[in-house]
Amino acid sequence: MADASHTVLKWISDQYRWHLAGRCSGVWYFVTKPFRIKRRILGKRNVILNQASKIARLAVRIRGDDNVVEAAAQARLGRVVVDVRGNGNRILIDGEAFLERASFYIVGDHCSIVIGRRTYVAGGVFVAAESNTNISLGDSCMLANDVVIRTGDSHGIFDRTSRARLNPGADVRIGTKVWLAHRVTVLKGVTIPDGCIVGTGAIVTKTLDAPHAVYGGHPARKLRDNVAWGWGLEGCD
Ligand SMILES: CC(C)(COP(=O)(O)OP(=O)(O)OC[C@H]1O[C@@H](n2cnc3c(N)ncnc32)[C@H](O)[C@@H]1OP(=O)(O)O)[C@@H](O)C(=O)NCCC(=O)NCCS
Repeated sequence: MADASHTVLKWISDQYRWHLAGRCSGVWYFVTKPFRIKRRILGKRNVILNQASKIARLAVRIRGDDNVVEAAAQARLGRVVVDVRGNGNRILIDGEAFLERASFYIVGDHCSIVIGRRTYVAGGVFVAAESNTNISLGDSCMLANDVVIRTGDSHGIFDRTSRARLNPGADVRIGTKVWLAHRVTVLKGVTIPDGCIVGTGAIVTKTLDAPHAVYGGHPARKLRDNVAWGWGLEGCD
């Protein structure tokens, strides 16, 4: 009985510890916070460091050991799902990032997904599909609805004669102040340089060569050079 009450008290204190560190305000937010984060964690030494300033809904499912999920100070999360199956993985949502309807999937070991500071995601799926692959999204990026970014294809394709794997996974690197428009898909091994815009519906299969350019189509090709974009309609920063 003593054990059970100790477990309950520990759970309650865990719920509120990070809340206090996150400089949240509002009694209602404080009271409802435990119900906004759902955890289903099977394994050892898994850590959730939650210093987000706002969480509408966060579901974390982990199966494995030594995984870290971190939402840094002033991050804001609305309807975010984290699903990790493997060991030694890391997801970091950096300071002031604002994520709505974002899902993170890791299947494998020693992967990382990093979302940069002040980056805005309106709806995205991030998949680290194989061991030792990483996704990094730079600072001040903007992702529209239904963006998909993945480091692998989730199934192998092989040469029938040599049996060699033809579609190995690889890192995805997205620079700072990149705008990925509605329904963009970024596939394994792609680097997108700083300041680029990728137009709606594009599928990026290879690294884009020029920074501050507009790309679009399947596969994505350069449409314009030397552009800058702004968060509003007047001027760019
Ligand atoms: C990327 C984007 C902003 C570019 O707009 P733009 O600079 O005005 O481009 P234009 O319409 O003048 O088109 C320039 C050329 O690129 C082509 N093009 C434009 N968008 C394209 C796309 N998504 N895919 C393929 N080609 C595209 C045009 O056909 C045109 O080709 P042409 O010169 O051979 O005629 C726009 O295409 C886009 O994606 N808009 C949606 C933004 C969005 O999703 N917003 C949601 C909120 S984040």
